[in-house]
Amino acid sequence: MSGQIEDLEKDIRGCEKCGLSEKRTQIVIGDGTSEADILFIGEAPGRQEDKKGRPFVGRAGKILDGLLEEIGLDREDVYITNIVLCRPPNNRDPEEEEIDRCTGYLDKHIKIVDPDVIVPLGSFATSYILDKYGLGDGSISRLHGEVFSVSNLEGNFKIVPQYHPAAALYNPDLREVLEEDFRRVSEVL
Ligand code: URA
Repeated sequence: MSGQIEDLEKDIRGCEKCGLSEKRTQIVIGDGTSEADILFIGEAPGRQEDKKGRPFVGRAGKILDGLLEEIGLDREDVYITNIVLCRPPNNRDPEEEEIDRCTGYLDKHIKIVDPDVIVPLGSFATSYILDKYGLGDGSISRLHGEVFSVSNLEGNFKIVPQYHPAAALYNPDLREVLEEDFRRVSEVL
């Protein structure tokens, strides 16, 4: 990891910007390499992630690992973080205020990793990223797999929204859709 990511981790580690900090076991900052070409953004840590302090290490993480493997990548090749870095109680949806207070950290991650492709996983990450870059809004069922090109002062990069991997746990038909959309990410690279 570059020194910049380590410095950012130090800044984030004791965060108490919102009430989620009171209930967490561990803050889940991110995983992978800051040299990554692809940045994945999930929703929030779940029970396993809160215990282990790493993103996507539970059931949704197994699906993510499988999808990465199918396009010839593993975790060490990418960077993975979340919209909120602490587990919401009982895995409820993150609230607007929690997202507002936490996403400054995501913005810093994006600057440091400087990826060629940003992959928001699920509706919360997709709404945040499309709004951040002025790309409008829409449901994930319409937007998944679409490729958005961004050219701004931060550079040139693509955004390819995906269903959240956990969606395939509840609806196995989505596994094929996710596989196809992950292939799109690898084509874009
Ligand atoms: N789901 C997420 O969105 N993020 C994680 O880190 C784990 C599960």
